[in-house]
Amino acid sequence: ADLYAPQRRNSAGIELNDPLALARLAEGMGAFGEHRWRAAPLVAGRAREGRARPVHEPADRRRVAGEVVEADEALVDEALAVAAAAQPAWDATPATRRAEILERVAELYERHRDELMAIAVREGGKTIPDALAEVREAVDFCRYYAAQTRAAFAEPMRLPGPTGEDNRMSLHGRGVFACISPWNFPLAIFTGQVAAALAAGNAVVAKPAEQTPLMAARAVALMHEAGVPGEVLHLLPGAGEVVGARLVADPRTAGVAFTGSTETARHIHRALAAREGPIVPLIAETGGQNCMVVDSSALPEQVVVDVLTSAFRSAGQRCSALRVLFVQEEVAERLLRMIAGAMDELAIGDPRWLATDVGPVIDEQARATLAAHVERMEREARILHRLPLPGETANGTFFPPTLVELDHIGRLEREVFGPVLHVIRYRASALDRVIEAINGTGYGLTLGVHTRIDATARYIHARVRVGNTYVNRNMIGAVVGVQPFGGEGLSGTGPKAGGPHYLLRFATERTLSIDT
Ligand code: NAD
Ligand code: ALA
Repeated sequence: ADLYAPQRRNSAGIELNDPLALARLAEGMGAFGEHRWRAAPLVAGRAREGRARPVHEPADRRRVAGEVVEADEALVDEALAVAAAAQPAWDATPATRRAEILERVAELYERHRDELMAIAVREGGKTIPDALAEVREAVDFCRYYAAQTRAAFAEPMRLPGPTGEDNRMSLHGRGVFACISPWNFPLAIFTGQVAAALAAGNAVVAKPAEQTPLMAARAVALMHEAGVPGEVLHLLPGAGEVVGARLVADPRTAGVAFTGSTETARHIHRALAAREGPIVPLIAETGGQNCMVVDSSALPEQVVVDVLTSAFRSAGQRCSALRVLFVQEEVAERLLRMIAGAMDELAIGDPRWLATDVGPVIDEQARATLAAHVERMEREARILHRLPLPGETANGTFFPPTLVELDHIGRLEREVFGPVLHVIRYRASALDRVIEAINGTGYGLTLGVHTRIDATARYIHARVRVGNTYVNRNMIGAVVGVQPFGGEGLSGTGPKAGGPHYLLRFATERTLSIDT
């Protein structure tokens, strides 16, 4: 076993075509259909009560998934003090023990899968397939980082000693990590950050997104149940500008793992640079202006399925989602007609139903931002197709899948985070200009290519600066250890989550040289 081939298996799914498996899932999730979860700051293993606010369900704002008590700045201070005091003992805990605990977390997640899926659906507005993928990815992160911990942290690496010295290098936690996560993967990304930080020997103060505290609270409860000490892992639900900002500004924070928008990452970057105390790492995984290039040799039927999956699955609320489709002019008319036709088959609605393809967007602010963008596109571009919203979506924050034709990618100033797909036609002779335009966005997260000409795929891949390129398939759903995930430029710092180098960024290296 080593960092590059950690011994473990990815989490098994459910056969959604098997009626028995589906019935079991429906029963399991159904038990949580009316449940109300509660999230409160958890510091030193003790829940801190206070005034709670309801957490409304995006699919129907009249429904409540639970309530949350938010942390204040005094609790940030207390959590950091306790975490800093507890970290050395956690770092000294044998790495194999830390790995066992993470493996136990994975087991508990699998055992509580139906409940976690129910939270993802109700609090996060995820469809059932997305909720399942969410739990599986979280499980995979735990097992992957656990296996790497055994491989790289358990024993020091022996180094050459040409003059007779005994030289070794070992990996250690840095101190207290602040883990700040987004709402769009409320379990997977939350868990990935926290598991990596803990595995490397850090204490953690976790700050989940305002929209999804209930999932974070359940995850932390299971992590504590698995054996992570309460003094080592603290949960602080609350506002980014209050709790997150305070965490980042405090010199006791020895590193920040952040996933979210590029704007917030910049903010954190500046705050870290401005503060006193040690210079610390920032791992930032941020947004994308993800493109797909389709040439005239591509297989149209496959393109249509992959475009719809990439742009509209998860209501377009994946950082990896397709935003701009470049289609070669010769095939554009036909392909766009096929895409519009296939869009008509998408079922928009309540994510609790398996038949739903497109659920709600996360909240009213997200919906309003998308509406303002499409309104601008009505003036500056051409709306090719827009689905009607079914009546039963009226009480939720839904946004209709929309297809927009643009003349120039420069019209998109920023990431449009939802089910809006932009299309640009290009001439075969202008492929280099397409590549230039993609690189010109400054983002570098995912790229799709559809072509049956291998040389074209390789030509594009060699020139576009992105983290994850997918050829002749959809461009979402990176699998832990299989497609390590993360971008460059405005899309993040790396290293890639679920890849061989991620854990190392949470650790510090020390050498010991003994003259024998
Ligand atoms: P966001 O930046 O608004 O919030 C992310 C987190 O940062 C939240 O917990 C928020 O409370 C916190 N935060 C906000 N202001 C802060 C501050 N001043 N100091 C410290 N913390 C602060 O992002 P979001 O809307 O929750 O998530 C969507 C974004 O995340 C999209 O841009 C998406 O592309 C990106 N994303 C990227 C990846 C990736 O792997 N690259 C994965 C998922 C999501
Ligand atoms: N890792 C997630 C995906 O690939 C964001 O879709």
